[in-house]
Amino acid sequence: MATRGGFSSRLGFIMAAAGSAVGLGNIWGFPYEVGQGGGAAFVMMYLIFCFVLCYPVMVTEIAIGRKTEKNPVGAFNALGFKKWNFVGKMGIFSGFLILSFYNVIAGWAFGYVYEMAIGNFAIADHFSEFVQDVFKVGAYGMVFMATTAFVVSKGISGGIEKAAKFLMPSLLIMILLIVGYSLTLPNAMDGIKFYLIPDFSKLSSEVIINALGQAFFSLSLGMGALITYGSYVNKKENIVSAAAFITLADVGIAVLAGMMIFPLIGFMSGGTMDGVGSGPGLIFVTLPQIFGTIGGTFGAIAGTLFFVLLCFAALTSTVSLLEVPVAYVVDEKNVRRSRAVWLVAGAIFLIGIPSLLGNGYSDFFSNFITYPGSETATDFLSFIANVANDTLLPLGGCLIVFFAAHIWKKHNLDEELSHGAPNYKGSFLQKYLNFAVGYLAPAVLGFIFIITVLKTYFGVDIF
Ligand code: PHE
Repeated sequence: MATRGGFSSRLGFIMAAAGSAVGLGNIWGFPYEVGQGGGAAFVMMYLIFCFVLCYPVMVTEIAIGRKTEKNPVGAFNALGFKKWNFVGKMGIFSGFLILSFYNVIAGWAFGYVYEMAIGNFAIADHFSEFVQDVFKVGAYGMVFMATTAFVVSKGISGGIEKAAKFLMPSLLIMILLIVGYSLTLPNAMDGIKFYLIPDFSKLSSEVIINALGQAFFSLSLGMGALITYGSYVNKKENIVSAAAFITLADVGIAVLAGMMIFPLIGFMSGGTMDGVGSGPGLIFVTLPQIFGTIGGTFGAIAGTLFFVLLCFAALTSTVSLLEVPVAYVVDEKNVRRSRAVWLVAGAIFLIGIPSLLGNGYSDFFSNFITYPGSETATDFLSFIANVANDTLLPLGGCLIVFFAAHIWKKHNLDEELSHGAPNYKGSFLQKYLNFAVGYLAPAVLGFIFIITVLKTYFGVDIF
């Protein structure tokens, strides 16, 4: 498989997969979802989903990828179950949708590099005008998509691996420094309370649906991104421990992002936590305020550096999102890699235009749909995120684990997982994963999928 390329080292795969997982989902998505989901109760559900359900899905995806050395559609074919390749097709479709809106947010983050560099902390008060300047933020998005396409066209092991190894740890250090600073602000503890002390009356089907969607999105699961990355992994790699590291790194960064944002909201609101549920604009409004309170040249440098690192984190994620359809077109349709990359990236950019326009610029896309049982309209970007993250990804994950345990069969999965993990067979982890992949995850994910469809699209809440 020399032409497909592969990761050059053990660390290379782990860093690239962690790079896929860690991105806007952690730093942009997680705090705003926690804010809207009422705080610690959401966090608790999210953590349970990540470790109990998503980790087994991750292990399964990587194993299927490594076993077959194929894209998500080719993987099902290669295992001899062509009828199941619709799961891969659905994943590719989800990836299209996700990248289309993800790139819009990445464009905002990219624009903020410049705003911070010129010390424009007041952008916090002008965020809604910023996102409505669609030609400007559209141009930022276009540059971002082109950069993603450029990296993907260079192949999997070159750029991605090298950049991730150095930039991910830098992002972590930067976040830790900001967390330290946030915690010193007055009223920081009101933020921490909101974030960490659960109020169980806040638990609802909506919180459960959003926490599960967030877990899948943040861990890059359910659409075959990790089947694709797994296809480039060496047989000596220990999949179960690599997946554990990736899960921990991703959850860790998300939790720290919350530690950075919520104390600041406590500070800004004088302890009332007003504005915490403001939605997708949350970090774009609160973070400039952090850098503004630091102030001056130092604040500008810190702000610029932060958004540069955030853009890199987003880039390692967009690269993995684009890699999925590209690997499919290259493997299955025999298109040259460079050609496939630019075609797919161009198409996704176009599909993203309604998400770009739906933040106040176009009335139609800003109030795109009113769900049954809801009084307010939902914008196009949020609608696509509901469809992709909260509905398609958990469904994809459910089908992948069901397939692995009952169609491909557990002993084949076990066999693949024991390559590179000599002590895996007979371990407690093996027993747990067999149970989770075979029964727990398909049942719970299937159940939540039904709740999601009923609640979101039909307005029927069974709780
Ligand atoms: N996990 C990425 C993030 O949190 C987004 C992503 C989703 C990447 C699905 C690949 C596949 O930013």
